[in-house]
Amino acid sequence: MFEVKMINPEMTYAIRHKILRPHQSIEACKYTTDYEEGAFHVGAFYKGKLISIASFCIEKHPDFQFEKQYRLRAMATLEEYRKLGAGKAVVNFAESIIKERNFDFLWCKARTTAQGYYEKLGFRTYGEVFDYPPIGPHIIMYKKLR
Ligand SMILES: CC(C)(COP(=O)(O)OP(=O)(O)OC[C@H]1O[C@@H](n2cnc3c(N)ncnc32)[C@H](O)[C@@H]1OP(=O)(O)O)[C@@H](O)C(=O)NCCC(=O)NCCS
Repeated sequence: MFEVKMINPEMTYAIRHKILRPHQSIEACKYTTDYEEGAFHVGAFYKGKLISIASFCIEKHPDFQFEKQYRLRAMATLEEYRKLGAGKAVVNFAESIIKERNFDFLWCKARTTAQGYYEKLGFRTYGEVFDYPPIGPHIIMYKKLR
């Protein structure tokens, strides 16, 4: 149903802005991790239109023992294309790449509104809900990839 592939960081900015940070500037949608070594970005396309995005960077969460960890950032699907499996397809695609690179752990700071989504993808929660200004309540979620 979707074409899923790697995309350039610049291609994520419009959806990040629209869905994740509508009250902030486009500059706030550009992350320093976007161009770091090992970082990559994945998009799902429906009939040629980019409808779902996520970004991945090498970052170790100090509370987890795994040496080689990827962090998932800025996961978003356009509202009119939700619950069709696009987000899941993006994360599955990224997990294959991460495993090919011999990393075996993925974590993120999840909005509590998306917790159920990540749980469906096999993530678990870690620790307590915390505030992540200016966005709101988040919780750490993680997935062992092997
Ligand atoms: C969270 C989000 C990325 C999900 O994208 P999506 O493309 O709709 O997700 P999918 O269709 O691949 O959903 C996969 C599964 O999770 C379920 N799901 C999707 N969103 C969910 C949610 N918010 N809560 C609980 N379950 C959810 C789907 O029903 C589907 O279940 P199924 O496999 O049983 O059919 C999307 O709702 C979004 O962009 N939300 C706003 C931004 C946001 O919160 N991003 C996450 C920041 S941490």
